[in-house]
Amino acid sequence: MELTEIYQKGEAEIRSRDIGWLLDGVETEFVLSNNRNVLDRYTIRQRCIDGVEVETDCSVLGVNLSTPIIMSSMTMPIPAIVDDGLMQVADGLKAAGSLMWTGTPIPQDLKAIAETGVALAANVKPFKDRPMMFKAIDEIQAAGVNWLGIEIDSGQGTKVHDKQMAFDCSPLSLEELKEIRKNVSVPLIFKGVLGKEDAEKSIEAGADAIFVSNHGAHTLDYLPHPFQVMDEIVSVAKGETVILVDGGFRRGSDAFKGLAFGATLVGLGRPILHGLAADGSEGVKEVIQQMTQEMKRLMSMTGFASPGKIGRNSLIEY
Ligand SMILES: Cc1cc2nc3c(=O)[nH]c(=O)nc-3n(C[C@H](O)[C@H](O)[C@H](O)COP(=O)(O)O)c2cc1C
Repeated sequence: MELTEIYQKGEAEIRSRDIGWLLDGVETEFVLSNNRNVLDRYTIRQRCIDGVEVETDCSVLGVNLSTPIIMSSMTMPIPAIVDDGLMQVADGLKAAGSLMWTGTPIPQDLKAIAETGVALAANVKPFKDRPMMFKAIDEIQAAGVNWLGIEIDSGQGTKVHDKQMAFDCSPLSLEELKEIRKNVSVPLIFKGVLGKEDAEKSIEAGADAIFVSNHGAHTLDYLPHPFQVMDEIVSVAKGETVILVDGGFRRGSDAFKGLAFGATLVGLGRPILHGLAADGSEGVKEVIQQMTQEMKRLMSMTGFASPGKIGRNSLIEY
């Protein structure tokens, strides 16, 4: 199945169930439409003479991947799409040489997922019950994940349309982030950074990576797309802290733009759900592989041999 068909079939499948609304966005849904609009604001500078051979393998924070396109953290509603959905997602991502990232709720079978051999990260929300948060942090590490993520942007829980979720969260302080750092021995990522100030504090707290994200329109209304704040965050990271990005990425061209803006990895939320709903683990694998192939075509015709080389000046804003 081709990518467009996977997206259409997956969307129809998920919409036909009572979890369909989880594809929507918070309140006015401005963030959802702005994500697409901002991605579309950039065109790509072609440099086809002396086109290059492209490879997409990358090594990031101790993990070897075949592609810089990974899953963004989600658990809900994967088991509601297919019973063994999480295992199918793991199989599909492993086959594509990509990384799986679970969210809330923390899967009970996280250890079994890790044992599939898929590169694996797991997120924790800033539960108001901080001892419970630290217990979750311990459990995730014991399961054998490669990386651990903290959703610094879920301090007011999450929200889709008018429906508030994750009431049991509150914002974390810099001191608490430092405390978390002391308790985490794997690479630590703070997800939901959307500005220079939080980037500086994340680095001060010892983040190995910053995930620039508006949570796919599931937290606050009128947040910017990551591209609207990437340059200021990249300048704070100074090439020393890894930057990840997500929010509306659907095609290889989108991923190319994310890397051009300075991200090392590009995350996908809904496309993973679409792949799973359209064709199980095969659909998940195809989403990653087809987007990677689209990105490789662009890299070859723009003169970039590997993902880390794609330059910011390859984008033309209009
Ligand atoms: C159904 C759904 C569930 C999500 N659950 C989580 C979660 O538990 N933790 C988290 O950090 N982000 C969560 N997200 C946000 C994604 O990790 C990601 O930031 C976002 O979906 C990226 O945008 P995209 O869907 O346009 O690719 C969720 C997103 C969706 C659509």
